[in-house]
Amino acid sequence: MEIIRSENLCKYYGSGAEQVKALDGVSLSIPQGSFTAITGPSGSGKSTLLQLFGGLDQPTAGRVVYQDKALADYSDNQLSVLRRRRFGFVFQSYHLVKELTAQENILLPVMLDKRKPDEEYLRRLTQLLKLDDRLSHLPAAISGGQQQRVCIARALANKPAILFADEPTGNLDGQTGREVMALLRQINRELGVTLLLVTHDLGVAEQAERIVHIVDGRIEHDSGGSLR
Ligand SMILES: Nc1ncnc2c1ncn2[C@@H]1O[C@H](COP(=O)(O)OP(=O)(O)OP(=O)(O)O)[C@@H](O)[C@H]1O
Ligand SMILES: [Mg+2]
Repeated sequence: MEIIRSENLCKYYGSGAEQVKALDGVSLSIPQGSFTAITGPSGSGKSTLLQLFGGLDQPTAGRVVYQDKALADYSDNQLSVLRRRRFGFVFQSYHLVKELTAQENILLPVMLDKRKPDEEYLRRLTQLLKLDDRLSHLPAAISGGQQQRVCIARALANKPAILFADEPTGNLDGQTGREVMALLRQINRELGVTLLLVTHDLGVAEQAERIVHIVDGRIEHDSGGSLR
């Protein structure tokens, strides 16, 4: 069953001879519970695609449809609620609030949503991400890999249906990167979170069940979900 799709998605910057076609007609259907990696050279449109899928930016043409409703048909307010409750985002740079502890950072989206945290779920999440003994530390006092795992926990705190991750292992050494990837796979399998992950690292991409390769804003190859 499909959870989200793009239809002929285009994003153009500038005009005339200066125009950059960051995305040029991408149609992609993402099944619920799947794990898809988006690969491609630098500047091929990977981050743009992820941002449009996540409703963080508007396309020049085409549309994104989440559970049979186009993101363009949501009001600004509905879209921010959808993003806050159903989508989780992990970016390459950590974006942690440096005055807040790991635990407070993780709880931030739940608090912003004025909801009561699900203690049992958060315990499971922080255990899964091996953060239990780091929760009272400030970001400056934990390692890069741990900060990235705090970001992942924060993105999952509201139990999103889809986790969008842009180069989540980009700043990590090989070993830590593999550990974070193993955790993401576990989250995908055990929590049923649909994963859409951008990476230029083939070793990372191979852990997904499907690889979609983008060149110059177009899908050049789609393995179609038969890798795992
Ligand atoms: N705000 C912007 N204004 C103008 N051009 C932009 C803007 N954002 C992105 N682009 C251009 O769109 C193209 C796609 O950018 P995008 O960030 O999606 O690439 P990417 O595949 O994520 O690259 P990388 O692997 O380096 O992160 C690039 O040519 C980029 O320069
Ligand atoms: Mg990018």
